Amino acid sequence: MSASNSLFIRACKQLPVEATPIWLMRQAGRYMAEYRAVRRHHSLLEICKNPALAAEVTITAAEKLGVDAAIIFADLLLPLEVMGLDFQFTAGEGPVIEQPLRSAESIARLRSDRASDLDYVGEAVRMVAMHFGRRLPVIGFCGAPFTLASYMIEGGGSRHYIHTKRMMYSEPAAWQELMRKLVEVLSEYAAEQVKAGAAALQVFDSWVGCLSPQDYRQFVLPETKALIQKLRGTGVPIIYFGTDTATLLGAMHETGADVIGLDWRIPLDEGWKKLDHGCAVQGNLDPVTLFADWKTVRAAAEDVLRRAAGRPGHIFNLGHGILPETPVENVKALVDFVHEYVGLTAEARRRGEK
Ligand code: CP3
Repeated sequence: MSASNSLFIRACKQLPVEATPIWLMRQAGRYMAEYRAVRRHHSLLEICKNPALAAEVTITAAEKLGVDAAIIFADLLLPLEVMGLDFQFTAGEGPVIEQPLRSAESIARLRSDRASDLDYVGEAVRMVAMHFGRRLPVIGFCGAPFTLASYMIEGGGSRHYIHTKRMMYSEPAAWQELMRKLVEVLSEYAAEQVKAGAAALQVFDSWVGCLSPQDYRQFVLPETKALIQKLRGTGVPIIYFGTDTATLLGAMHETGADVIGLDWRIPLDEGWKKLDHGCAVQGNLDPVTLFADWKTVRAAAEDVLRRAAGRPGHIFNLGHGILPETPVENVKALVDFVHEYVGLTAEARRRGEK
């Protein structure tokens, strides 16, 4: 089976599949002993910048879980560095950008001509794609312009996005220049991942749900659409993911993404309906459910599958990334359960026919 014939890629294209494909955001991460073992000797950025290590971490997680796609191990913030913003990951606090963007001048100084310095990610994609050959598709990814801009302006994670929104409202020309530069860098960076063998791309707009639909349309949709349209030109399916997006789904659909990622705050069938079933959907089990007993996890997973109702174009995933401390055995059992679910209903169907 070639990557383009895989369950995952067919589901991205809303084609019928024999079983619901599943992969999990942050499937390689601290909840997994194998990842923690690598992290004892290397920082997060060292792993990202060493293609052999990034490939190893990607492959180990995908093989251990038996998922239907391998997402390349990298981080959303890597493009900041080539644009001229240095950052670090501090233990327990997440990313910290040393000199956040707070003025039009600092935006004017950003470089947008060095995406090729991120070629180590492409190299890691190449190694993973070589390893899996036709067996498993590799997902490349990048951040969406809004979510990356929010990190650049806030200097890290944020609760209210005050600096970001202030820039958006009071310096619209500078805001637009920032979004335009991000699209330039991200489109080149993600397209390189496809050249290296990525069979699909996910655009992470993790924090876009802090915006009203009007603001999303005015300040974010045009550039995000431009990015997604450029990426569709590479020929691979594009997944566009955000959290807290129940009121934004219609506008997000206008980007032309092949797949929209849903978080758990909206029931999957309601979310899909808001998209007029006009694209595939990915999601949407609450990642915290995985901390419960297996019976609860199983019932919640079954609920997601029932809401998808066998309609072509569902990719099972969590509504956001796996959290550290998540019990690995529940994650593995979830993957097996999703794979067997169609098996069970097919069996039930056969029994019914007799
Ligand atoms: O999904 C995968 O398995 C691929 C790897 C991956 C990482 N980051 C590695 C990572 C992916 C897809 C990302 C994307 C990413 N990075 C996002 C978007 C996804 C989301 O969660 O919304 C964001 C917002 C970031 C920025 C980022 N990186 C933060 C906020 C943090 C700190 C929070 C935390 O979990 O500690 C990171 C660190 C990070 N990136 C880790 C991993 C596995 C965890 C820490 C580590 O090993 O130190």
